[in-house]
Amino acid sequence: MRTRAYDRPMSNLPASFRAFVVDKPKDAGFSRGVRDVATRELPPGEVTVRVTWSSVNYKDGLAAREDGKVARTHPLIPGIDLAGTVVASDDPAFPVGSAALAHGYDIGVARHGGFGELARVPSAWTVALPRALSPREAMEIGTAGFTAAMSVVALEERGLRPGDGPVLVTGASGGVGSAAVAILASRGHEVWAATGKADEHGRLRDLGAAGFLTRDEVTAPGRPLERERWAGAVDTVGAATLPYVLRTLRIGAAVASSGNASGAELATTVFPFILRGCALLGMDSANMAIDRRRALWGRLASDLLPRGVADGITEVALDTLESALDAIHAGEARGRWVVRVAG
Ligand SMILES: NC(=O)c1ccc[n+]([C@@H]2O[C@H](COP(=O)([O-])OP(=O)(O)OC[C@H]3O[C@@H](n4cnc5c(N)ncnc54)[C@H](OP(=O)(O)O)[C@@H]3O)[C@@H](O)[C@H]2O)c1
Repeated sequence: MRTRAYDRPMSNLPASFRAFVVDKPKDAGFSRGVRDVATRELPPGEVTVRVTWSSVNYKDGLAAREDGKVARTHPLIPGIDLAGTVVASDDPAFPVGSAALAHGYDIGVARHGGFGELARVPSAWTVALPRALSPREAMEIGTAGFTAAMSVVALEERGLRPGDGPVLVTGASGGVGSAAVAILASRGHEVWAATGKADEHGRLRDLGAAGFLTRDEVTAPGRPLERERWAGAVDTVGAATLPYVLRTLRIGAAVASSGNASGAELATTVFPFILRGCALLGMDSANMAIDRRRALWGRLASDLLPRGVADGITEVALDTLESALDAIHAGEARGRWVVRVAG
């Protein structure tokens, strides 16, 4: 009987592959760095991918730290994003040689992720790469762009329309923030960017920002309700900015909350909800159902493409990944990093 493409045996795979590994053995200290990993250590799954590109997200910065609290197993190959070519498959939907991407679920936190030349994932977590995107372009978008897109969709599904008024994006220079600025602007919204980095105004203006707020303006303490200002908001920062956003939303407006870059506490009152009918929309990209995830990637390749974010991309390799992981954790992101994994 002929072997079908998706059935090609796993024995074609190399015995080991290079990966950036974080380890915390009980009898030794914390360590991280590039080393060879045996292919038999890959977790179970129907689809094995030769990872050509990954990206750096805030969660990866946490997974690569001893005190990061997101890694749920060690040793761990972090990397919540991955894209590349299928090299072994038990699912005809993802034949050998096809391009695929995966992100979220347990990838890079509770099982090996994208910072290794090989990755194995369940087919129920795998997305066929949209034809309009290369693996590198998909990783320029990555979890950050995906989260920005789901935030914009959530706001629009709740009724936000271009022309309704200014829409605020906090943490605007970061991965989620930059993509949110780009997507909102390309859909005709008037976008205001809150950023702690004045020297990022030019790049954010190029992405479509119409106005700017300083970090001080969005982190200062205030009254329970203030002047109604925003028709909608995308908050990526959490503790430091979400209280300001809530107390300045217009009647009936919503904020899509995805991030905790400044902390996870939320000091607010119920007044935005009970006196202005505002809504706090939670964004959880990691656990989005796969059908919706695949559909949203289709839109990221078309009407939700974050145009212009590629100009803010820095490329790193496995060997130079550490500095990007530390920088994103320190809040120094200016756009995104893509990681060239397998050559
Ligand atoms: N819910 C989800 O599914 C999901 C998905 C992706 C990411 N996230 C979360 O979203 C957040 C942003 O992710 P990202 O990848 O965009 O990270 P990022 O690239 O590091 O961007 C975060 C930005 O937040 C701002 N910031 C950082 N520390 C701050 C502080 N102490 N006070 C005020 N602003 C601060 C900075 O922007 P400025 O200098 O421009 O102000 C920074 O660039 C993270 O918390 C991440 O874990 C959640």
